[in-house]
Amino acid sequence: MLKKLLEEKVFKDPVHHSIYVQDLTIWKLINTPEFQRLRRIRQLGTSYLTFHGAEHSRFSHSLGVYEITRKIISQFERNGYSDWPQEEKLVSLCASLLHDVGHGPFSHSLEQIFDTDHEQWTCEIILGDTGVNRVLREVDPQFPARVAAVIRKKYEKPIVVSLVSSQLDADRMDYLLRDAYFTGVNYGTFDLDRILRVLRPYQGKIVVKDSGMHAVEDYLMSRYQMYWQIYFHPVTRSSEIILRQIFRRASELYRTGYEFAFMLPPIRALLAGNIALEQYIKLDEAMVQTTFGQWSEERDELLSDLCRRFLNRQLYKYVPLNPEDQSWLEEVRQEWQQIGLNPEYHLEVDTPMDSPYDVYKPGTLPDAKEKPPILLLDEQEQLTEISVKSDIIQSIAGLHRGKYYIYYPEDKVLPHVHKLRSETRKKLSI
Ligand code: NI
Repeated sequence: MLKKLLEEKVFKDPVHHSIYVQDLTIWKLINTPEFQRLRRIRQLGTSYLTFHGAEHSRFSHSLGVYEITRKIISQFERNGYSDWPQEEKLVSLCASLLHDVGHGPFSHSLEQIFDTDHEQWTCEIILGDTGVNRVLREVDPQFPARVAAVIRKKYEKPIVVSLVSSQLDADRMDYLLRDAYFTGVNYGTFDLDRILRVLRPYQGKIVVKDSGMHAVEDYLMSRYQMYWQIYFHPVTRSSEIILRQIFRRASELYRTGYEFAFMLPPIRALLAGNIALEQYIKLDEAMVQTTFGQWSEERDELLSDLCRRFLNRQLYKYVPLNPEDQSWLEEVRQEWQQIGLNPEYHLEVDTPMDSPYDVYKPGTLPDAKEKPPILLLDEQEQLTEISVKSDIIQSIAGLHRGKYYIYYPEDKVLPHVHKLRSETRKKLSI
């Protein structure tokens, strides 16, 4: 039974103008401590160090994903499409709202260091002893498990999963528009209203009416642009490298019994590699940055230097690296040692292809990982994969281009630059 609010609630939003909440369950979920915590986690991690406007939170993104899902379902309901299972509305809305609730501070960088997984934490928050779980259980004792199944992409009705997680889903549509808005860039926009009008539930999938192909082309091009211009921006990568190094160094120190002058329990549990749900939901970016502020005065030179760099945006310099010719890297490592630098920390090779973000490239992933392609539905009720009909999408589908850079602290190298081989100086353009 869907319990409605006596009066709908409206959130003002820069991307969708207004976000409407009519269900009591959604309203209660928004007001749980676990969901409110998303206000203190930025949607784009360290991107604010590159694009100063990118301070938007996972809270606003999560509300946006909920709103897009609500609009899609409402379009299906208004048109009376029989392929849409109406009883799945609440589970779809809850899963969209909660899909990122397990993200930790700077989560993509931290996940690499601590081998955690935000999707796993999302499910633990939904199923564990939390405010979110209590609200979901009020619907039905089995309801939390149903929402978690959607998050894990194991829900019995795939159409519900594809609303929240597919090549054309509410999550991506919101983050592309939101990230473009807050970074202040001109690309990344597409006609969301048009896309929402041409989506159709069809044989257990969500497909696109073929007249909407050009709107979807715009959406995929905007993804392509956003990945290379925003998400993989080399300055952002530089700040992520420093962030990862801080946690790598802190973990090393922790393991060797170093006594930190400042340590909060959730951070200690993270470093110890045994953080439990109760501590995890206390982590936020304010806590991490407070910790870095304190650690910038730690006795360990390496840790304090990295923390100062992160807080004061003294990032590493980057130069492109030819992936075919990495032979000189080993020599640079030796030169680094000779001038007193630590190559483990002061020389990083980065290839944005490693990034946790994925791009649209059908046929390049093992079957289990592949997301279903975007399908166009024509008047004869035939389905065609979009890159077959669209030249534009054909040209970007399956692209697997990476970029290689090396990163290093130029300020530490410069005083010793005369000791470097001229070859190295030339490659590093110093
Ligand atoms: Ni998301």
